[in-house]
Order: sequence, then C-alpha cells, then structure tokens
Amino acid sequence: MVSRPMVVSALRSDALADGVRAALDADAGRVALRRFPDDETYVRFEDDPAGRDVVVVSDLHHPDAKTVALALLCAAARDLGARRVGLVAPYMPYMRQDARFKPLEGVTSRYYGRLLSGAVDWLVTVDPHLHRHASMSEVLTIPHRVASAAAEVAAWVKAHVPDPFLVGPDAESAQWAERIAGLAGAPHVVLEKTRRGDRDVEITVPDLERWRARTPVLVDDIVSTGTTLIETLGHARRAGLRPAVVVVIHALFSGDAWQRLEAARPARLVTCNAVPHLTNAIDLSGTIAAAVREVLD
Ligand code: R5P
Repeated sequence: MVSRPMVVSALRSDALADGVRAALDADAGRVALRRFPDDETYVRFEDDPAGRDVVVVSDLHHPDAKTVALALLCAAARDLGARRVGLVAPYMPYMRQDARFKPLEGVTSRYYGRLLSGAVDWLVTVDPHLHRHASMSEVLTIPHRVASAAAEVAAWVKAHVPDPFLVGPDAESAQWAERIAGLAGAPHVVLEKTRRGDRDVEITVPDLERWRARTPVLVDDIVSTGTTLIETLGHARRAGLRPAVVVVIHALFSGDAWQRLEAARPARLVTCNAVPHLTNAIDLSGTIAAAVREVLD
C-alpha cells in the first residue's frame, strides 16, 4: 500500500503548506532546519520520509540564501529513502533574466532551473514570468506543472470591485490581464512600458478617459521596486479614473516598495499568498494542490 504524501513546510511557508496539505488530504512532515553558528545548515527529518512522496513547500523569494538549505533538505529526503521528492515553489525566481540583454551576461533563469532540476524529482510553480521563455520546459528538465492564480484573482475581483476593468501595465502582463478579465466578465486594456533601469520606467497610456465609469484594477505578476505600478497609478489618477485597486500575484516588495506603493494611494492593494506578505488576501492553496495532485498521479 502506498502511504499518503507528506507535506513539508520549508523556509517560512507554514500557512501555504497547511492549505496545500489540507487540500491534498496529506500528512504534515516535520523537519528541523536551522543554522549552525557558522551559518551552515542543519537538517533533520522529525517524521520518517522513507517510501513516501515528499512535497516540500518553500518560499523562494530572496532565493540565494534559501536555495542551498532547500537543496540540502531535499537531498536528505532522498537519502532517507523518500519515494519521490517534489518542490512547490509558488514564486519561481530568476525568470526575468530570460535572455542575454548585454554581451557576456548569464541567462540565469536557465541555470537556476537546472539547479532545481538536479535537487528534486518534480516541481510545481504559480504563474512564472514567462516572457522570452515560451514555457517552463525551457528552464526545467524534470516533470512540472504551472498553476495559475487567474481564477482566484478573478473571483476576488468579482466579489470586491464594482464595475471593474482590468489594466495590465505592460505587454508581459497582458496574459494575466486578459485571462482574469475574461473570467471576471470585465473589459481590459494593456499599457506600454519602457524600462530604462531597475527603478526607471515610462508607461505609455492609451485613451484611459473612456473608462471613467468603471473601477480600474491594475494587475501584475510581480511587484518588485513598485515603480511599474506607481507609474500606472499616477496615469490612472491623471486620466480622472476612479481610485484604482491593485492586485499582484508575487509580492516581492524590494526595500521600501510597499510603503512607496501605498503612498501612491491605491483604493486597495492585495496580493496572492504565493509569497508570504501582510497584503496577502487571495489564497492559492487549492489551485496549487490540484497541480500537485496531477504531477503525483
Ligand atoms: C516585468 O515585466 C513584470 O511583469 C513586472 O511588471 C515587474 O517585475 C515589476 O517590477 P517593478 O515593481 O520593479 O516595477
């Protein structure tokens, strides 16, 4: 008889891991993961993973510090006889370095994908930043599933925003704006963005004035410095639109980005729980568990 999967929470992912475990009707696997005084990682399973499917749920925001600990945890699970070891990494890091933008640069999305592919048997992620990569198969060499936050975001918009219209700040966000708008039964527009540097972006806006009778919902896959959304909020305000609601899938919020974005006065700012943050209001554990079920079957 095959035992139930064991869901392990790694690197401050308890809330999401609990949701995924409950949706999968799986067991919780406890691990002790801590730092030795010299900053190396200590790993011990408190529940035996031998013969079991181990599902590690891990936040990979700020990945460099976390990846080694995660790889060691997964290596220990394999060494202790786990049947398969899979990783739920709702935020897939490095995906924006998806090309050689300057000569001799590294295409780190590929290298990072290969690194994770060596550490686990399968991977589930949520709405990765697929722009120049057509699919995750260009990044990962192991079985994987991509879960989408679109249905949950659309349901939230329908329940909380009167007369919404979806705004994607740039071409990359078109895929989410269009899909969420379709599911929410709302119109959408996509703006044009030119990025000149990490914190220097210009947004070109089509005729926004005609949407004054609706509530703008700015939707983006990632908020990092906040510059994209702050610029877009400014345009929406100058066009005389109603105060805009902001919905983001991956709440990275570098430095003081959250405070700066709040200072730009959105009507509401909410994020999905793909990355733990105080703005999390949209739960993705159901859609993630469905993807895990598929990969385990
Ligand atoms: C990039 O194309 C992404 O879709 C986001 O728009 C971008 O990562 C947001 O970055 P920031 O918050 O630094 O403007």
